[in-house]
Amino acid sequence: MTLASIRDLSAHYSAGGTRFHALDEVALDVRSGQILGVVGESGCGKSTMASVLSLNPGPSLRVTAGTLSVAGTDIDLTDATRGASASHRALRGGTVALLPQGALNALNPTRRVGAQAHDILAAGDRRIKRAVSYERAAARLEALDLPPRALRAYPHQLSGGMRQRVVTALATLRNPRLLVADEPSSALDVSSQRLLVDLLRRLIAEGLVEGIVFITHDVALLSELADRIAVMYAGRVVEEAPARELVSSPRHPYSQALLASVLVPEPGTRGRRLTGIPGSPPDLRAPLAGCAFAPRCEHAMDVCATDRPPRVVTGSRDDSCWRSAETEEAAHVG
Ligand SMILES: Nc1ncnc2c1ncn2[C@@H]1O[C@H](COP(=O)(O)OP(=O)(O)OP(=O)(O)O)[C@@H](O)[C@H]1O
Ligand code: SF4
Ligand SMILES: [Mg+2]
Repeated sequence: MTLASIRDLSAHYSAGGTRFHALDEVALDVRSGQILGVVGESGCGKSTMASVLSLNPGPSLRVTAGTLSVAGTDIDLTDATRGASASHRALRGGTVALLPQGALNALNPTRRVGAQAHDILAAGDRRIKRAVSYERAAARLEALDLPPRALRAYPHQLSGGMRQRVVTALATLRNPRLLVADEPSSALDVSSQRLLVDLLRRLIAEGLVEGIVFITHDVALLSELADRIAVMYAGRVVEEAPARELVSSPRHPYSQALLASVLVPEPGTRGRRLTGIPGSPPDLRAPLAGCAFAPRCEHAMDVCATDRPPRVVTGSRDDSCWRSAETEEAAHVG
């Protein structure tokens, strides 16, 4: 069952009179009880998408189109441009929540963790008493096998891995339907990463969140963690498939190049680069015609430079590539 649907999401940054087209007609679904992994090279729009989906975009981002439907609530994402929209504020933390990159930045270094837990709960219920917030946060930490005494600590008194897990527990205190996690594991060592991954799985298994969008550069990690994987390139989703299928048989030439650039997953080899992808991502200052990957793609045809490839759905997976479109057409004709 679909928990969340993102449709037609386009957004650009304005900086010094120049536009950067960061998201271009993004469409994705997150299924109930599942983790959707999102992967792609640096600059492909992952964090921009995370900020829009969590209804917390930066001031220079303008969302020109897009809707998000979460568990029956329809949200016009273009309202997010105004940042402080009352309807979005009401949904933040309770319906959608963000787990940002770097747990240190997510916490105020000058306040105890418990006080920050109170802020999170008070955002949903202004009349809640501090003692009640504290009790609720302590119970949640305990239920997730995290030490409730962490609430009395200042952030710097917790280890990096513990801090990230405590932040995760706090971000989900209000039981958001959808959790958007933007590279929460990137600064962690392998054993802390493992503990974080277990925690995310538990949040879903225990019904504390209904679905997770997990953003990372680490395809190897996603192959273990995610149910499905979406591959982004230059602000577009180019392929989406069940995790194992995507890793074992990527269809889009960009996904193939991305997977060829990492080893998946032998112990000790996670994320090690094998071959780089030749060329560099496109300049996002102008809207892209055709396929964004065309200048780097060894299979490019004339049509690829001029016409945007259609989304070709095959069974439970899809990709946007003219080669797939032709193969599908041939299959239907044949
Ligand atoms: N505040 C901003 N002003 C202008 N352009 C921006 C701004 N923030 C991001 N961008 C541009 O938007 C594009 C998408 O950036 P984004 O941070 O979403 O990518 P990302 O996939 O999260 O990258 P990374 O993997 O490095 O975190 C990039 O080209 C980036 O340079
Ligand atoms: S649409 Fe064309 S250029 Fe783009 S990935 Fe497919 S074959 Fe390559
Ligand atoms: Mg990012």
